[in-house]
Amino acid sequence: MSRTIFYFSGTGNSLAVAHTITGKLPDASVIPLAGIVNSDKPYQADADDLIFVFPVYVAGIPALVARALAQIKITCATYIAAVVTCDSSAGAALGIFNNELNRHCGRQLDAGWIVYMPGNYTPLYGADSPKKVCAKLEVAETRINEIATAVHDRQKHKLETLPVPFCWLPEISSKMFTRNVWQAGRRFRASADCIGCGLCVKVCPVNNIVLSAARRPQWQNHCEQCMACLQFCPVEAIQCFWWTRGRRRYRHPQVTVEKLVTQKSL
Ligand SMILES: Cc1cc2nc3c(=O)[nH]c(=O)nc-3n(C[C@H](O)[C@H](O)[C@H](O)COP(=O)(O)O)c2cc1C
Ligand code: SF4
Ligand code: SF4
Repeated sequence: MSRTIFYFSGTGNSLAVAHTITGKLPDASVIPLAGIVNSDKPYQADADDLIFVFPVYVAGIPALVARALAQIKITCATYIAAVVTCDSSAGAALGIFNNELNRHCGRQLDAGWIVYMPGNYTPLYGADSPKKVCAKLEVAETRINEIATAVHDRQKHKLETLPVPFCWLPEISSKMFTRNVWQAGRRFRASADCIGCGLCVKVCPVNNIVLSAARRPQWQNHCEQCMACLQFCPVEAIQCFWWTRGRRRYRHPQVTVEKLVTQKSL
């Protein structure tokens, strides 16, 4: 039995989930969706079981996940599942992913789960306190272990998504988000606190940041809004307009920069 876990992660939650699930599945390999997209080449998925793990963005899926699906050729898989991470509501994410999977690969999900984790969308809210983060991650750990067992046993599971009559609003908001996401990098600025360390350049999964000659970050035009740059900046110099000023940052406490950057290439 061969298994591949595909993942995308901005701030470590989905990466941690992918690694926990992988740890419970003998001989599973982990493949980053950002690596597939950055390679700009088709990717042949030959495993029997395919598991996709990624965050919910605006009640839908990250634009990058849909782009990666367009590059993936599924050959002989007989079990396909998805696990989405979010902080409060996954909206229609699993349903939208299922539609994209069908559109690009002609396949349907056999199972789909939601894992609730700390939120990272600082333009809307500040992060939870360290105590609350710990409590949320503890609850999530139990849930992830249950999902890992279900995936191991190739269990079918009804998608945890909104029923059809309630999907249209998240589908519209998700479409609007993905259509404009690349331009969203224009909202970022580094304040005078920037020390020119280049960490934002390093963690960006799609290489959307370059350092100027004066070692100041400059955002290009293919942002995914994953929040990695903003959350990992060691001096909290990155702001998204004025919306993020004074707000507590979040990154998964057990995911290091070294672990996160491995997603940039295959
Ligand atoms: C652009 C963006 C949109 C988001 N939209 C939602 C949402 O609609 N519902 C929700 O519960 N969480 C939302 N979140 C929070 C993330 O889904 C959540 O924190 C996730 O676990 C982050 O995963 P990661 O650390 O692997 O990037 C959003 C985060 C971002 C960056
Ligand atoms: S991570 Fe922060 S301090 Fe480092 S270069 Fe980027 S903005 Fe400047
Ligand atoms: S520029 Fe920042 S928010 Fe945009 S994709 Fe890169 S790390 Fe993520």
